[in-house]
Amino acid sequence: MLLTTKQLFQQCYGRYAIPAVNVFFMEEIHGLFAAAQEADAPFIVQTTPFARDYANADMLLSMIGAASRIYPNVTFAIHMDHGYESHIFDAIEKDGYTSVMIDASHDPFDKNVERTQEVVRRAHEKKISVEAELGILAGVEDDLTVDAAHSFYTNPQQVEDFVKATDCDSLAIAVGTSHGAYKFSGGQGLQFHILAEIQERLPGFPLVLHGGSNVIPEVVERINAAGGKLKTDAKGVQEDEIRKAIPLGICKINIATDTRLLWTMVNREFFRDKPDEFAPTTPGKIFMEEYKKFMLKKFDLFGCTGKA
Ligand code: G3H
Ligand code: 13P
Ligand code: NA
Ligand code: ZN
Repeated sequence: MLLTTKQLFQQCYGRYAIPAVNVFFMEEIHGLFAAAQEADAPFIVQTTPFARDYANADMLLSMIGAASRIYPNVTFAIHMDHGYESHIFDAIEKDGYTSVMIDASHDPFDKNVERTQEVVRRAHEKKISVEAELGILAGVEDDLTVDAAHSFYTNPQQVEDFVKATDCDSLAIAVGTSHGAYKFSGGQGLQFHILAEIQERLPGFPLVLHGGSNVIPEVVERINAAGGKLKTDAKGVQEDEIRKAIPLGICKINIATDTRLLWTMVNREFFRDKPDEFAPTTPGKIFMEEYKKFMLKKFDLFGCTGKA
């Protein structure tokens, strides 16, 4: 069943979180839908403008549509991640998304409000949910790099005014995570006091955690053992941090880096061990299985197994 993110968050608030996974190609979509059907777990499949430009939006949406017929017993939303107006308005008109994110978090507060309001107005006319963002995450996002010095935690004193002014349906906040494989290089971890203060000012309102990858140490080690050169201070969000964040209102946790690392691990190991092979489908099959196993574990950790 295809739902909006608003509908999914009404079910899960404070009890479990829903993984929102970035997809770029077919094998990921198979792995994701297969896992969700087996776990009976709700999920959010999401695409960035980069993914849409890479694969073509029609190609991605068609594959997601096909997956929902191949795996008919799933409950999910289709979301545009880190959207900007050109992609969002195009998507609202024709694409079948049930949710979009407007990421105007790099703009000053008033400009962020103004851009978000316009997206909310046009999305709500089509019953599409809107995620907005307040605060700036460090890390790499598409072609935009934000260094730690230019990232800002969300100011809890601004969240009420922002949500009231924009009428957005969920809010992405900056509470210490960053995008990519090198979160918490300084060991700082999630800022729970900020998260708690935000929840206090927005009781019951769905919050979104970007940069939610775990950056599994074993996966990083296996990549490097198979010829990769990832830096050893790669580090992600810990499992206990996820469990603590859910009762504080985190309803959606974004994951992109973990599944990329998984792809890299499978393919590096495969071609190291089978240098005479060249069929993409053989490592592709291994990747789909690994992806599915990875998602089953995430569903358990986020508490959403059996909740679809
Ligand atoms: O924030 C989500 C992803 O890290 C962005 O992925 O920029 O490659 O689409 P992408
Ligand atoms: P990761 O880099 O931790 O996977 O974060 C993904 C994300 O926030 C997508 O919007
Ligand atoms: Na998003
Ligand atoms: Zn993000």
